[in-house]
Amino acid sequence: MLNGRHLIDIKDFSKQELNEIFDLADQIVKNPEDFSHCCDGKILATLFYEPSTRTRLSFETAMLRLGGKVIGFSEPNSTSVSKGENIADTIRIIGCYADVVAMRHPKEGAPKVASIYSKIPVINAGDGGHQHPTQTLTDLLTIRSIKGSLSNLKIGCCGDLKFGRTVHSFIKAMSMYENNSFTLISPRELKVPEYIKRELDKNNVVYKETKKLEEVIGELDILYMTRVQKERFFNEEEYIRLKDSYILDKLKMQEAPERMIVLHPLPRVNEIACEVDDDPRACYFKQAQYGVYAREALIMKLLGLEL
Ligand code: CP
Repeated sequence: MLNGRHLIDIKDFSKQELNEIFDLADQIVKNPEDFSHCCDGKILATLFYEPSTRTRLSFETAMLRLGGKVIGFSEPNSTSVSKGENIADTIRIIGCYADVVAMRHPKEGAPKVASIYSKIPVINAGDGGHQHPTQTLTDLLTIRSIKGSLSNLKIGCCGDLKFGRTVHSFIKAMSMYENNSFTLISPRELKVPEYIKRELDKNNVVYKETKKLEEVIGELDILYMTRVQKERFFNEEEYIRLKDSYILDKLKMQEAPERMIVLHPLPRVNEIACEVDDDPRACYFKQAQYGVYAREALIMKLLGLEL
């Protein structure tokens, strides 16, 4: 039962609950008009303390497509945060105005704190370099729709695996499904955090780490590319040195199997050359479209709404 729950970490939901969200999203994909009044009278608050294009606008689109309304901010300096109001007080107030809230914050754990003080469901829309569970709903819905299954997949995650919050939630979620294995491709400085690896070990998930994309691309079913997260670096020189560690181009795609799909949470900078966009295996724009359906399904479930 997801009614009234928070989504802070993708593992807050069981595999069965995730599958229920994807089943509902499939129904919305097939007949979007049928759902256009499901959220009549409901309000979503989007509290974005950090920049966003896809997450905020897809949440807002999702609520509007369900017949609900949206309030919120994308510029915290225009709110009482700039006067020193804390998260606990802000969320108590938002709970008087809205039915569900999506929060993005540069500090790891901020949405978790909000959830402790909130009387309405809080959705983590990205907290620092930690987690991004609704991107993961988007990613898994995309894979399920295109590959037909979330199991038995050889998954490559490439780029900034240290600061890339999308990849942390993605690895956690995909390791819940049977017989998936991971190839973690990054420079030494941007390796996946130990707490993610400990979780893989605990669940006996097979993984290996490498620096060389070209040596492993031929083995993969899914290549999940990520941007080097400039905003999380303390040292600009270090960012400049690492930012172009990987550039997926047509030449590298020639080494990839026909079955391999390329995902990317976006925004991209240089890590996927634009010449790859026309390759039928490039699924990252389709992935962004699935984000609306995934968020529509999530909102309905957290509000306990049915068709
Ligand atoms: N994927 C993602 O989180 O994109 P935005 O930063 O544009 O929301």
